[in-house]
Amino acid sequence: MRARILSLLEKDDFVSGEEIADRLGVSRTAVWKHIQSLQKLGYGIESVRNKGYRLISRPDTPIPEEILPGLGTDVVGTDMRFFSRTTSTNLIAKGMLDGGPPEGIVIAADIQTEGRGRLKRRWSSRQGGLWFSVILYPRIPPERGMILTMASSVAVYRAIKETCGVEAVIKWPNDLLVNGKKVCGILTELDAEMDRINSAVIGIGINVNNELEGELLEIATSLKMETGSDVPRVPLLRSILEHLDILYKLIMSGDHKTIREGWFSHSNIIGRRIEVTGHRGTLNGTVSDVDESGCLILDTGEGTERIVAGDIRYLD
Ligand code: BTN
Repeated sequence: MRARILSLLEKDDFVSGEEIADRLGVSRTAVWKHIQSLQKLGYGIESVRNKGYRLISRPDTPIPEEILPGLGTDVVGTDMRFFSRTTSTNLIAKGMLDGGPPEGIVIAADIQTEGRGRLKRRWSSRQGGLWFSVILYPRIPPERGMILTMASSVAVYRAIKETCGVEAVIKWPNDLLVNGKKVCGILTELDAEMDRINSAVIGIGINVNNELEGELLEIATSLKMETGSDVPRVPLLRSILEHLDILYKLIMSGDHKTIREGWFSHSNIIGRRIEVTGHRGTLNGTVSDVDESGCLILDTGEGTERIVAGDIRYLD
């Protein structure tokens, strides 16, 4: 109903409460209540006696009313939920799985109180950032699951470049850096059988206009800090969903090659000397490849190691 009222208010003039009520087949009191809830969501709606309502401004909040209309996607963004404050969008998404949510549903939050990063780390999620998760049912073998994270990194890379002109670099396995500092992290959580993934929750966190506190300032940056001004979150999220939709359809058609090529062209890892810290301790070497499963192939000088997960530090 809110979306329908908004579309009536989109023409740049007053629309009377009576006209809205007639068009939508509801009472004028119901219209007034919906207008109030839109105002609470951040819409600037002027209300003038004998004239009606007029839309003056829209919120830059990742709410379904702003993200979904006219989104040019087939799978990603079929539906959406928004929370002004929640624990973690990944946790909420995983909690929804039993109810069989539609593939592509997006869960977004303005603030996460228990934002989670890789390796069980805490993810700072203050107001002003983009914190969201997408549920997908990719029906690919679990050892190929990393392609989903790779596709997501490429989608975020493209959207950031397109909407704010900032050139990021993808850092294995799933970070995006700008000027050497982290601007985006991705946490993909899979529910899988031996031979296929049942569901994937792709959680994406982007420092957009949020404040970064304390020691985070040394390793992280935000798009606002990089561009020098507030970055609108609504066009950024819409662009990510559109790019991810294109890349996800490639995965579903069996074309992982194009995604890997995109990922490699925005990452600068091949041939770099790195130190990698994982569950097997710390190793040094030169990266010779990232294989089809997304594992790092490291030439240590004494042989080749295949690294499934860990943190890397560039040594050159
Ligand atoms: C990392 O780099 O460690 C991954 C960070 C992923 C953060 C996002 S924010 C949205 C989603 N919900 C979470 O709790 N985590 C992911």
